[in-house]
Amino acid sequence: MTPQQIALVRQQFGLIARSSDAFAAGFYDTLFTLDGTLRPMFPADLSAQRGKLVKVLAHVILSLHDLGAVIDDVRALGARHASYGVTITDYDTVGIALLTTLGDHLGDRFDDEAQAAWALCYGTLADAMIEAGRQAPAAAA
Ligand code: HEM
Repeated sequence: MTPQQIALVRQQFGLIARSSDAFAAGFYDTLFTLDGTLRPMFPADLSAQRGKLVKVLAHVILSLHDLGAVIDDVRALGARHASYGVTITDYDTVGIALLTTLGDHLGDRFDDEAQAAWALCYGTLADAMIEAGRQAPAAAA
């Protein structure tokens, strides 16, 4: 990601963070509309899950300029996700749900430039998680 893309993602995440619970709720609604079979993987009450998602996104987004600082956390997260049974296709679905929800919340601000920056941000994160899940599926259990 370029420094400009990092700055844009950070600035837009700042806007979303003001209503992070509504953002996370919208994300899960969109995700389960895209693929209802994913719903049973999650707890019935998503309130704790919503907070965790936003916290991790904030953690990674604040470190986009130096991903080495959080790569161990991201890899451990990826290994845990392999143990939850998350597949590569699921990462694609989550990416679509995330970009759709960003568009819903950011409106006109979510232009082509922003879409490209966020897609790269999610892709980088997902690739690192998938790679870690592939390498350590047994250790993740
Ligand atoms: C960048 C992508 C993702 C991030 C940042 C993320 C973040 C998180 C976090 C922070 C947790 C809390 C538990 C833990 O730390 O291990 C979690 C749990 C979970 N995530 Fe993800 N996740 C991502 C992708 C996915 C995908 C693609 C799926 C597939 C549907 C998924 C399904 C789950 C499930 C099933 C749980 C466990 C729920 C539970 O039983 O409490 N996640 N995720």
